[in-house]
Formats: sequence, C-alpha cells, structure tokens
Amino acid sequence: MNLLVINGPNLNLLGMREPKIYGHATYSDLVQLLEDWAQSAKVHLEIYQSNHEGQIIDKIQEAYYTCDGLVLNAAAYTHTSLAIHDALAAVQLPFVEVHISSVSLRESYRQWSYIENLALKTIEGQGFEGYLQALTFLKNYLSHSH
Ligand code: DQA
Repeated sequence: MNLLVINGPNLNLLGMREPKIYGHATYSDLVQLLEDWAQSAKVHLEIYQSNHEGQIIDKIQEAYYTCDGLVLNAAAYTHTSLAIHDALAAVQLPFVEVHISSVSLRESYRQWSYIENLALKTIEGQGFEGYLQALTFLKNYLSHSH
C-alpha cells in the first residue's frame, strides 16, 4: 500500500510557529512520528511539504499514478483553494483531511474548508496524533475496499 502525507504552507515551521496553537514539536518530529508509524504498519509512506499551491496540486496529480490514498493538511489553502479542491476531485483518490488545531473553534475565516466535502473524514484538534488517526483510518479503509 502506497500512502502520501501532504502538508501545506507554514507547516515546515512547526515548533517555532505559534506554539500555543500548534505545540513545540517540530516538523522533523512530525516526519519521524509518521515514518515510525509507516514502518510498524508496513506501509510505504511518502511525506511531502510545500508552501506553494501549484506544487501541492502537482503532487496531488502525481499521486493519481503512484498512491492509493492521501492524508492532507492543506493548512491555509484549506480555506482558500478551489484549485486544490479541483485537483482532489479530478484524481478521486481517497483522502483524510487533517488539522493540528481545532479549526472549527477558531476564527470565522477558518470555518470553511474547500476540501471537506471530498474527504473521507476530517480530523481536527488532535495535534500530531491526528495524522496517525488519519493514516490508520485510511489503511483500514483501503484494505477493506481492495
Ligand atoms: C491548520 C489550520 C489552518 O487554519 C492554518 O492555516 C494552518 C494549520 C492546522 O493544522 O491546524 O496553517 O491546517
């Protein structure tokens, strides 16, 4: 099984970025956590981060040929990007939307998600643990649908 985690803009700054909201653990800590999960789950996992909308779209398009499913934290693009929505609609890959913070309890401009209606589910407010919940859900989903 080939899975892909995509992290959007500013998530490379985890650790220094608004630690009261996102915590003190760094992006490298997140990568390590995900790699450890992949090893014990015996899943091939690629982990990708970009600050650029077009690169995220390219990665979603590429995933059509290489991946069985995605975990996506599109960060601020969640709330703005019809183009990322359209890429996800085009490839029709199963994916779980993740947010580290509780977006539904934050500012009103974070309440709308362009991708929620396409996602298998949305996990928010669980910190890094949310990525592991998403990967576990996706792995179970894919092993039952194949
Ligand atoms: C985020 C929430 C978004 O509103 C924000 O723009 C982010 C991170 C989260 O993981 O909580 O960059 O997706």
